[in-house]
Amino acid sequence: MKKIVIESAGGYEKLKIKEFPSPTPKEDEVLIEVKYSGINYADCLVRWGVYESAKKYVGWPITPGFEVSGKILAVGKNITNYKVGDLVIGFTLFNGYSSHICIPERHLLPQPQTFNLAQGAAFPAVYMTAYYSLFQIFYLPHKAKILVHSAAGGVGTALTQLAKAKGHVVAGVVGSNNKVQYCKNIGADFVYDKSSPDFKWSQIKTDFPEGFDVVFDANGPTTLKISYDLLRPTGKLAIYGAHSLLPKSGGKINYLKAVIGILKTPKFDPMKLVTDNKSIICFNVSFLFSEDRLIQENLNGLVEMINSGQIKPPHVNIFSFNDVAKAHQFIESGKSTGKLVLEH
Ligand SMILES: NC(=O)c1ccc[n+]([C@@H]2O[C@H](COP(=O)([O-])OP(=O)(O)OC[C@H]3O[C@@H](n4cnc5c(N)ncnc54)[C@H](OP(=O)(O)O)[C@@H]3O)[C@@H](O)[C@H]2O)c1
Repeated sequence: MKKIVIESAGGYEKLKIKEFPSPTPKEDEVLIEVKYSGINYADCLVRWGVYESAKKYVGWPITPGFEVSGKILAVGKNITNYKVGDLVIGFTLFNGYSSHICIPERHLLPQPQTFNLAQGAAFPAVYMTAYYSLFQIFYLPHKAKILVHSAAGGVGTALTQLAKAKGHVVAGVVGSNNKVQYCKNIGADFVYDKSSPDFKWSQIKTDFPEGFDVVFDANGPTTLKISYDLLRPTGKLAIYGAHSLLPKSGGKINYLKAVIGILKTPKFDPMKLVTDNKSIICFNVSFLFSEDRLIQENLNGLVEMINSGQIKPPHVNIFSFNDVAKAHQFIESGKSTGKLVLEH
């Protein structure tokens, strides 16, 4: 079997394909012959050596990857719901960039009939993140007004689709003009291109004078203050990343830029939060893999939404397994829409 292995922090050159013996499933696991491996922005953070759960749970060397789709080659003795030959989607805490992987039954989904296999591998990480943050953290009022930064990206697409499926109003912010139509196509009611010379944050305030019930922000220091200001009383700021600290090209972190960004990160005074009636919610789902009840509820909810046609298959950019460096370069560039997967 083949895996992409990163031995130490660095640029694209650290992504090395290596051969290993094929793994054997434990009693509650299945062995999957992987057809596609999903790529997430977090995989770049893993490569850079700044992803906390990778440092905590694995260290070096590491094989990134949170999601795969493929065919079951073998099952452990306690497996009841799947058999050899079944097509499945699996999610995993790392190791997804592998040609073969063992995954516990509780972290599998049957491949939906409305998705192809590439779309299957593009599904779990971003949709589970979106489902958790929209429906498991918050109580959302009827027709909640939701602002999504980076709305054309992987998580942004999933947040937009899931929120629209439940009848909420979505305003998406994107960083380039070519993403505007994409966001409209996935259902966003309003789209703001922050790269446009005419763009002003005050335009969003004019369009939403009462403010937002929720703002999803993974930019970090560049937008946190404006995101907070755009909330209505009772509104929540959901912080789940800080990609504005990171490079868009070259594959290496500019530590000076990152430190300056960290120093510029706004501080929120708890007493002001109290009197503003605003909340700040932060999360990282990669630390929640042992929360079986939460995961089960999340998966059941997503499967129900797929089966009822509320979730459309994600838009996918396909790269060959050997081109993993190009895929990292693309997601890092901030130019991608939807998801990226590696084809085996
Ligand atoms: N906490 C969690 O549980 C969790 C789970 C999944 C993902 N995340 C985070 O959510 C974010 C999105 O992840 P994803 O995999 O779906 O990636 P993605 O949104 O497909 O790609 C990242 C997007 O962020 C923007 N961006 C990237 N680099 C930037 C920079 N240096 N400055 C400003 N904007 C930049 C770009 O969009 P625009 O230019 O259009 O804004 C880019 O398309 C990432 O920050 C990721 O780490 C967190």
